[in-house]
Amino acid sequence: MTNNYIVIGSINTDLISTVKNFTKPGETVTSTSFTKIHGGKGANQCVALKKLGANTYMIGSIGNDIFGKEYLNEFRNLKINTEGIHIVECSTGLAIIESEENSSNRIILVSGANHELNISHILKKENIINDANIALLQLEIDPKVTLETLKMLKSKNITTILDPAPAIELTNDFFENSDFITPNETETEILTGIYPSDNDSVKKAAEILKNKGANNIIIKAGKKGAFYINRKEMLFMPSYPVNVVDTTAAGDSFNAGFAFGITEYKDIARALKTACSVASLSTTALGAQSAMPSLDKVEELIKKHDDINVLDIS
Ligand code: RIB
Repeated sequence: MTNNYIVIGSINTDLISTVKNFTKPGETVTSTSFTKIHGGKGANQCVALKKLGANTYMIGSIGNDIFGKEYLNEFRNLKINTEGIHIVECSTGLAIIESEENSSNRIILVSGANHELNISHILKKENIINDANIALLQLEIDPKVTLETLKMLKSKNITTILDPAPAIELTNDFFENSDFITPNETETEILTGIYPSDNDSVKKAAEILKNKGANNIIIKAGKKGAFYINRKEMLFMPSYPVNVVDTTAAGDSFNAGFAFGITEYKDIARALKTACSVASLSTTALGAQSAMPSLDKVEELIKKHDDINVLDIS
């Protein structure tokens, strides 16, 4: 039977300026390139799943403007069902991204239509939600709506992955109502007060998250790889070596890869490998969605590096 994936989250147009080095306060620099592309943590996760071949459904909100219209066309080109996209009278979400060449990025968000999505819009799609095997959420829609949605999904026994991004302080019910929580290093520090720089600090941060009610914790550690911690075990999966061009949406790609792996293979080690492979490949071209890989490419990278494996560091 085919598994059904649902993403409930943000849809943004990304305006990306590439710079040699990040601007300092008060400085003006000329960008080396500019591009406008489709992004948003929710939509990125949805597109990454679709490219892996998953049966994916998106629930989100766009504005009645040119960016919203362009995004709808993009979803249609990618054969993503747009029935769950709510159109509102305001601007589509924007992300103004400064991307440092071959390195990292900084993002300023303009929430726009993303914050107009509410629980009644989501519940209008209850028939589709009821068929979902797994749901992916983030924090670029109103966090109160994310929490209500997590509670609703838990009452229906649907597996949930919460990406606590962009990071804000969260009440315990966000953790208690999520099956998997996937902060990156900065988000881990905001949630716990501890920067997860090595195994010891990862353990301490995970302990704090467990005490807040987290069930399964994945700490995404960028080019190092990812840690997986629950009440029984602690694992580490190194990332795969690739030529990094732009890291935008690497975290979103990771979440899509993990959701796909855990749903299709029902095996944590295989899910972590899939997640790291999808995330690594997603960094090999500029922009959020352009380098998101097909399942063939993901498996090829895993096979090529069969010496890179999940390590038990309990
Ligand atoms: O995670 C990357 C995404 O964050 C970008 O696509 C941008 O839209 C911001 O939401």
